[in-house]
Amino acid sequence: MLYSELGLVNTNEMFCEALAGRYAVPAFNFYNMETLMAILDAARIARSPIILAVSESALSYMGGDMLMAMVRGANIVPDDNIALHLDHGASVEACERAIRLGFSSVMIDASKLSFDENVKITKRVVKLAHEHNVSVEAELGVLSGIEDENTFSSDSSYTRPDDVERFVNATKIDSLAIAIGTSHGAYKRRRDDEELRFDILADVARRLPCFPLVLHGASNIPQKLITTINEFGGRISGARGIDENQLRRATNMNVCKINVDSDLRLAFVAAVRKSLAQKPDNFNPREFLSLARTAMTQTCVDEIKCIMGSAGVID
Ligand code: G3H
Ligand code: 13P
Ligand code: ZN
Repeated sequence: MLYSELGLVNTNEMFCEALAGRYAVPAFNFYNMETLMAILDAARIARSPIILAVSESALSYMGGDMLMAMVRGANIVPDDNIALHLDHGASVEACERAIRLGFSSVMIDASKLSFDENVKITKRVVKLAHEHNVSVEAELGVLSGIEDENTFSSDSSYTRPDDVERFVNATKIDSLAIAIGTSHGAYKRRRDDEELRFDILADVARRLPCFPLVLHGASNIPQKLITTINEFGGRISGARGIDENQLRRATNMNVCKINVDSDLRLAFVAAVRKSLAQKPDNFNPREFLSLARTAMTQTCVDEIKCIMGSAGVID
């Protein structure tokens, strides 16, 4: 399948424009019809380019054929500026499968391997992807997470600026994900005043002028969503995301893709919990799924406007 037949675009031009305009294109994760439509609704409302991100586990949850049928059914046109992106592809084979399905962008995440192994695998993906005009993101540095306590604040997990030019020149990737203190999931910081490593970001941006950088693990974790979840039967405590001022600051330093998944999951779950708690006699899933879809759209729109700076970019 050719992605252009589905009205999709790769990320090259959208990143050029984001760099020039000093904003970030949001990469929002989806895993079913409701979450796909929630993100597309937000893109249309906010007139923002958007990257539809699919993790390997989301891809196997939906199944490749079903996923592509849903994307086709969304009637996307090139002027919408929408890319379909494989998030955290773990192997050349995973990226190859996504390219064959009709993805317009892939991430090869070999960041846990040695520098040389990362270069080797990434180069193979770039060769394959570029033959199909598919853009490639790779990663240097390892994002920490709550399950990875030991490396949470250790320098060794941050991207080493000394490596970035060599990596980009050797691999010919189109964008680079870097580790500057963000992490996946809902528990990102120990303290409210914890800052991202803007010194590393500045150094990377200086060494790679006009090159698109990517921030993973960038959910803001809106506390009002946590409150709603807990008010209606959930139990999430101590969750903390990345401050929106810091994310906006990053968009002025060549970060032109910001990945958000957890915030959207929280919005969805908060709406489902609230709806089911308030209407205990309801057993029509379409009722709470519609509310969840709308809530997710609202979170996407809020973040496009307040964090990404990409609202109104589409005519
Ligand atoms: O970066 C990872 C995303 O949040 C995807 O998570 O593998 O549970 O879909 P997932
Ligand atoms: P969050 O868990 O912060 O939403 O990060 C999502 C992400 O990086 C997807 O690749
Ligand atoms: Zn990620």
